[in-house]
Amino acid sequence: MPDIIVSDDGAIRTIRMNRPEKKNALTLAMYDVMAEAIEGAAARDDLACLLVAGHESGFCAGNDIADFVAMTKTGALGAPILRFLHALNRSEKPLVAAVAGRAVGVGTTMLLHCDHVVAAEDALFSTPFVALGLVPEAGSSLIAPRLMGHPRAFEFLVMGRPLTAAVAKDAGIVNTVVPATELESTALAAAQAIAALPPHAVTASRRLMRGQTAQIDGHIDAEAEAFRKRLASPEAKAAFTAFLDKKK
Ligand code: COA
Repeated sequence: MPDIIVSDDGAIRTIRMNRPEKKNALTLAMYDVMAEAIEGAAARDDLACLLVAGHESGFCAGNDIADFVAMTKTGALGAPILRFLHALNRSEKPLVAAVAGRAVGVGTTMLLHCDHVVAAEDALFSTPFVALGLVPEAGSSLIAPRLMGHPRAFEFLVMGRPLTAAVAKDAGIVNTVVPATELESTALAAAQAIAALPPHAVTASRRLMRGQTAQIDGHIDAEAEAFRKRLASPEAKAAFTAFLDKKK
């Protein structure tokens, strides 16, 4: 099975991360397929909603840390990462997410671009960027403080304190928390409800609500530049080595 499974069913396109043996850590190839799925949906009038899903054992463990190590050698942030982040931010189709288990790093920050997030009771959201010697990405350093206020965003993005599903709901990241067995059906029902609305009215409403797309695009690029510099730092290299050595 591919690491990303894209499937269309009626008006809903599901983009499923499917690398459970690595807790859905994202490789450059996976970012590219996800970006393609989002970008390709734009021209499809028959698609009304995108549903991002993971595995019952975990939503996404963030960027593949072995890929981070490779990037420290080239000094460049993988282009597919930025392609994916900009595709998410520029998506004209509404995005629903279904989250079970761990959502780490970009596994959480991608959710800040979603319109509706359903979480299983066991979902745990964490952004350990600073502990890894890095900085927040995906526009999160702009969006999270707006969403939850600076003190809570600082605790989350900088201090790296994980949010349980209930706390994430309170912070405004998650709409609904359900038992794990009801996760997929609840998220699908939300996607179907959105897809049943007049699509052009949904698009126009989303545009009005997400008026700062260009500003967020610029912020994603600024974060990426800071992130690229941090990747080469001794702090980051030590953190990556510690994670990868744990397995030996
Ligand atoms: N990059 C690369 N490999 C990863 C990964 C990542 N981000 N996250 C998990 N994996 C791999 C593990 O190395 C392990 O591989 P192995 O079986 O070959 O040893 C496998 O996925 C399973 O992970 P494991 O840590 O054993 O699972 P767990 O259930 O005990 O813990 C996590 C799950 C997500 C809490 C833990 O894997 C983790 O902290 N991952 C790193 C998250 C991270 O820092 N991401 C970057 C954010 S910027």
